Amino acid sequence: MNDLAPLVLDAQADFARATTPAELEDAKARYLGKSGRVTEQLKSLAVLPADDKKPRGALINAAKQQIEFALNARRAALAEAELQRQLMAGSLDVGLPGRRRGTGGLHPVSLTIERIEAIFGSMGFDVAEGPEIENDWHSFTALNNPENHPARSMQDTFYVDVKDAAGRWLNLRPHTSPMQVRYARAHAAKHADAIAQSLPMPEIRVIAPGRTYRVDSDATHSPMFHQCEGLWIGESVSFKDLKVVFSDFCRKFFETDELTLRFRPSFFPFTEPSAEVDIAFAHGPLQGRWLEVAGAGQVHPNVVRNYGLDPERHIGFAFGMGPDRLAMLRYGVSDLRLFFDGDLRFLRQFD
Ligand code: PHE
Repeated sequence: MNDLAPLVLDAQADFARATTPAELEDAKARYLGKSGRVTEQLKSLAVLPADDKKPRGALINAAKQQIEFALNARRAALAEAELQRQLMAGSLDVGLPGRRRGTGGLHPVSLTIERIEAIFGSMGFDVAEGPEIENDWHSFTALNNPENHPARSMQDTFYVDVKDAAGRWLNLRPHTSPMQVRYARAHAAKHADAIAQSLPMPEIRVIAPGRTYRVDSDATHSPMFHQCEGLWIGESVSFKDLKVVFSDFCRKFFETDELTLRFRPSFFPFTEPSAEVDIAFAHGPLQGRWLEVAGAGQVHPNVVRNYGLDPERHIGFAFGMGPDRLAMLRYGVSDLRLFFDGDLRFLRQFD
């Protein structure tokens, strides 16, 4: 027995008396805290002669260890008692089903665009994205839509009251067609050497999905909507190829061969000839009704020139379709606005 034994006994008794973790922490402070009794003992070492320090220090440390051991034992006992209490009170029901973590899902329009990308991907089409804030030249002029030409008002464009660095007015792109020009020009630049030497250039085959904007709003039009542009340019890509590609796409997209396509003559400044593409299902709720799904046509020679290519050598078709419309048809949704209201009761159905 040494003079530290009462200290250890006091601590053990104090810890045993503590009935809550808070009381136990108070008791701990009285021994191991900054001015606790054990800490005071350690501080007192400083005034001892050098020879006495070591044995005295060892004694104090042994006492400290005993006290820490008692503290930990009491902590564990209190925790165990608390667990028992909760179990007895029934507040911990291990039989309850777990709570599911909330998971997100893809939006039906995103699912539709993914589907379009997969189908065109299987036909060798690249996927490109471009800016939603466009300039006049890409949105209109390059697409054979001269300034002040009435055809510009076919689209009720949102203009931005700002010009870009090149002095061109900006707009919220009213269609994805500017992407034809951006992609084709980048392609032409990449193959400039081959083009200059009149060597064959790899074909352009691309789709460009994305958001588009027009001043328009009702059950089938939203000021923000989606389009997906398609472009195939080669040395002999014709309207016939457009028909094949688009028919194939529709059959794959709607998973039916019982579908008729109609290419209805139309006008776009950037294609000649131009067509609206309608489809009709042989079965189902929409059976027999012509539904417009795209605009399309052979790219106009002026536009091919703006791609930086020679219209005598590089020809092909373009189309622009509406993924929102395709999603409505595929899922049987009658109001376009449902897609953009953000109502989870609607959106969760597509998880
Ligand atoms: N850009 C046209 C539209 O928004 C669609 C289109 C694209 C037509 C490509 C022909 C070729 O209506």
